[in-house]
Amino acid sequence: MLNDIEKILFSEEDIQRAVDRLGAAITEEYRDKFPVMIGVLKGCFVFMSDLVRRVQVPCQIDFMSVSSYVGTSSTGAVKITKDLSQDIEGRHIIIVEDILDSGVTLHYLLDVLSVRKPASVKICTLLDKPARRKVELRSDYCGFECPDEFIVGSGLDYNEKYRNLPFIGVLRPELYGA
Ligand code: IMP
Ligand code: MG
Repeated sequence: MLNDIEKILFSEEDIQRAVDRLGAAITEEYRDKFPVMIGVLKGCFVFMSDLVRRVQVPCQIDFMSVSSYVGTSSTGAVKITKDLSQDIEGRHIIIVEDILDSGVTLHYLLDVLSVRKPASVKICTLLDKPARRKVELRSDYCGFECPDEFIVGSGLDYNEKYRNLPFIGVLRPELYGA
């Protein structure tokens, strides 16, 4: 598995430091707010489990699953395949995602969730790849900005592989036909 990685971008220690920082920022901002942290499966699962253990205010945890299609339109289309298990009306929401790339997924989720009348919605992503943005969107809490390369590890996959790497690395381009 390690042979498939061209270079390591962020080590386990880098990730831990970023998660500590994000957890502290969320703790500060959500005192007395009892937020609902919504993880977007599957990519969120490593980051989310690290992050919630650094958030030192009571919070609820929920998950959604979405699948993206690259349709005929330039933005593609997204569909919910697993919805929340609770009502979020009047609640403070933090959406937790592995990476903000084109922005299509999170833009769609913001649309879907805002109809349900939450008190507020913020976005927390481990990574931000601004070079690929199709929809104008920013992450309120972001671990790292990353270059325009295909990366894996710490929850991020290529064809469901490499999610269990403890660091974030660039996948060797010849492995995905680049
Ligand atoms: P979007 O393009 O912002 O809608 O991102 C959708 C999803 O694409 C993310 O949640 C990731 O699962 C996946 N993704 C985007 N960039 C990468 C990458 O560099 N490596 C692995 N997955 C990625
Ligand atoms: Mg993925």
